[in-house]
Amino acid sequence: MKHLWDIHFLLLSLLYLLGAVTSQVNPGVCRYPLGMSGGQIQDEDISASSQWSESTAARYGRLDFEEGDGAWCPEITVEPDSLKEFLQIDLRSLHFITLVGTQGRHAGGMGNEFAQMYKIKYSRDGSRWISWRNRQAKQVIEGNRNAYDIVLKDLEPPIIARFVRFMPVTDHSMNVCMRVELYGCEWLDGLVSYNAPVGEQMTLPAYPVYLNDSVYDGAVIYSMTEGLGQLTDGVCGLDDFTLSHVYNVWPGYDYVGWNNESFPSGYVEIMFEFDRIRNFTTMKVHCNNMFSRHVKAFRQVVCYFRSDSDWEATPLSFSPVVDEKNPSARFVTVNLANHMASAIKCQFYFADSWMLFSEITFQSDTAMYNTTLSPPKTGLPPTQPEDDPTHKVDDSNTRILIGCLVAIIFILVAIIVIILWRQVWQKMLEKASRRMLDDELTASLSIQSETFGYNHNHNHSSTTGEQESNSTYERIFPLGPDYQEPSRLICKLPEFAQSSEEPASSSTAASKSTTATAAQDGVPHYAEADIVNLQGVTGSNTYAIPALTMDLLSGKDVAVEEFPRKLLTFKEKLGEGQFGEVHLCEAEGMQEFMNKEFLFDITEDQPVLVAVKMLRSDANKNARNDFLKEIKIMSRLKDPNIIRLLAVCIYSDPLCMITEYMENGDLNQFLSRHEPEGQLALLSNAPTVSFSNLCYMATQIASGMKYLSSLNFVHRDLATRNCLVGKNYTIKIADFGMSRNLYSGDYYRIQGRAVLPIRWMSWESILLGKFTTASDVWAYGVTVWEILNFCKEQPYSQLTDEQVIENTGEFFRDQKRQIYLPQPVLCPDSLYKIMLSCWRRNTKERPSFQEIHKALQEMEP
Ligand code: ADE
Repeated sequence: MKHLWDIHFLLLSLLYLLGAVTSQVNPGVCRYPLGMSGGQIQDEDISASSQWSESTAARYGRLDFEEGDGAWCPEITVEPDSLKEFLQIDLRSLHFITLVGTQGRHAGGMGNEFAQMYKIKYSRDGSRWISWRNRQAKQVIEGNRNAYDIVLKDLEPPIIARFVRFMPVTDHSMNVCMRVELYGCEWLDGLVSYNAPVGEQMTLPAYPVYLNDSVYDGAVIYSMTEGLGQLTDGVCGLDDFTLSHVYNVWPGYDYVGWNNESFPSGYVEIMFEFDRIRNFTTMKVHCNNMFSRHVKAFRQVVCYFRSDSDWEATPLSFSPVVDEKNPSARFVTVNLANHMASAIKCQFYFADSWMLFSEITFQSDTAMYNTTLSPPKTGLPPTQPEDDPTHKVDDSNTRILIGCLVAIIFILVAIIVIILWRQVWQKMLEKASRRMLDDELTASLSIQSETFGYNHNHNHSSTTGEQESNSTYERIFPLGPDYQEPSRLICKLPEFAQSSEEPASSSTAASKSTTATAAQDGVPHYAEADIVNLQGVTGSNTYAIPALTMDLLSGKDVAVEEFPRKLLTFKEKLGEGQFGEVHLCEAEGMQEFMNKEFLFDITEDQPVLVAVKMLRSDANKNARNDFLKEIKIMSRLKDPNIIRLLAVCIYSDPLCMITEYMENGDLNQFLSRHEPEGQLALLSNAPTVSFSNLCYMATQIASGMKYLSSLNFVHRDLATRNCLVGKNYTIKIADFGMSRNLYSGDYYRIQGRAVLPIRWMSWESILLGKFTTASDVWAYGVTVWEILNFCKEQPYSQLTDEQVIENTGEFFRDQKRQIYLPQPVLCPDSLYKIMLSCWRRNTKERPSFQEIHKALQEMEP
């Protein structure tokens, strides 16, 4: 898996280098944390106007981090109207930034400084700084109300920049500290500015339509220079340009438009400047075509290219068909025929009295030979070798092509060498670790009670290592998959510590690499969660379990026994995944091997049916490690609604987990085969499930989740596909990971980097990577929705994956534009109310599993 990931990553990097990954930015989806909290932004790229002390330096201004004294704090008190202090982030390349997050200094309760308001400045070249203002020209952004809660703000319009400054603003003299994050994605268009004539005003009989570029961030005098604005804000205009209701702004807002009469030449000239020389494939111009108002897309465009100081003599010309039938706004694609350029000047010819553009995007293959090209005209400081030219270019296509091929071959050879080298290394590691792992397991899982005493430090260091390297979510959502809202934890964890049999030892807390300042006073900090991969043979899911729970789980009183493999008789294959298979087996004499409190409803010497999860014998070290961890955790989960581990075979390969067999398979398939009771089912003779049994199943899931949440165990992938059905509608929660083909459509491959069950995920899990019991509650609401629809429809089936993510943004904004899953036909209002409460924006307002369970018990007919 790791190799595949590496190859994937390298290929992506390769594609990226070649510039093949070009796209028009979608502001609804482009909302990834850019690396303050995840660490991808290096300390040296975070600077500040001043610092209070070494321990409140700029590098401590990372959102959700508690290192140093807990935040960046400027040297002096911030005075009203003095905009001297700032925290600056250098993203190293241009980014499209859609969202910002801020937090104050909490420092485990020691700090209470935060910025109530702030402004943002940004720069693309490090020298010209622009003040961000919203669409109503307001610069001040409302910040934090306390020192711990993260406050997120949408940037509308978004920013295209490399450098961003956060500038605290106060209304009275006060101490301010900040932690921040930027969210967005790389700006692959590479456009740093466009220069164009100022947009004009159209006078309609009823009202004027302002077609100026109201968010242009360059100079606007007679023309617009050196800036970006509405043509690059990712928002396409409506078909009817007189309606602009999207941001409660004036008619014509979405468009920049010009009147033919103001241009005797018959064309509007726009010049585009780029970050470096690029190989352009296409330009897409989003044009209005409302011919009833004398607006049409352009009839011809003539483009000139400049790769060094001179413009190429021969321009490129393209004449789209003038459309007088369809009034829809549309993207007109212009083939730029692989011209190499760092600037393009296009003359757009009027086809009617008016020409209105809302977006212009460029698709380019990043020039591979930037090292031999002339410097970018835009003056971005050179940070990469390609920005540091030494030679002059020969732009003959053949040379470039040969050069590209040589580079590709070189990179492919490098990839192969790296992979081979890693494989050899991995093999060596595996050999060495195998013995260690076996020893550890023999020690930890043997029934001799004295061997159950876990070495906490060992346990933690291994799981912490896992957190750094193996958490799928963490790679994409660097805020940390185990994040829990600090405000909630402040009161929760001490209670937990008191009730736990074995309070976390200070050495345990101290041993964590992710641990921040908080454990000093013995009160565990939320960042102390260990990520445990319950990566069964069929999947690769990742669970978050707080360290304390790990300790609790590793108590001396629980374990499973080694089962003699020869007493298992294979019956059939139940499932298959990346790391192995699940078999239905008969187990002889299983009773003897099981914990006494677990009683089968069969007689002593009868063989019992069990599900045997087997790890492929050639599985790598990580998979093996995860399998063993899953055993550790599962052996200690004891609840009637959680799938139960009965015994293991770990003395020899292949490693096996023996779990109870649930004869009706997973709940999704089970319900898909059934129909609601009623006329229709009678006619079709289909098997039915009564409403009361549906409720019974939903109640059992709530009960299982109540148990998991009492251990602070976050499931992260609760869905009908991960619940098993036994006799008489009994339900047990399991987790099969994400690799079963049958359900691949339920997982979204995010930026090609990881798979996520987005249709079951809360807004904060998708946008911030926050996985908590509250996000499990959200998923529970979706699971109940599936149940009441008999799993006949995927949640939000009418939305594409991208639209689901956009809808998540609406949940975040909470301006009543979010789409909720509809009330299923069978679902009474009372139950739908519970589902809606699971999808409340504020995590604290969602019910607990205890409350849900109680409400459902009371509701059951
Ligand atoms: N498929 C995977 N695990 C199973 C189990 N425990 N029971 C039934 N089917 C399964």
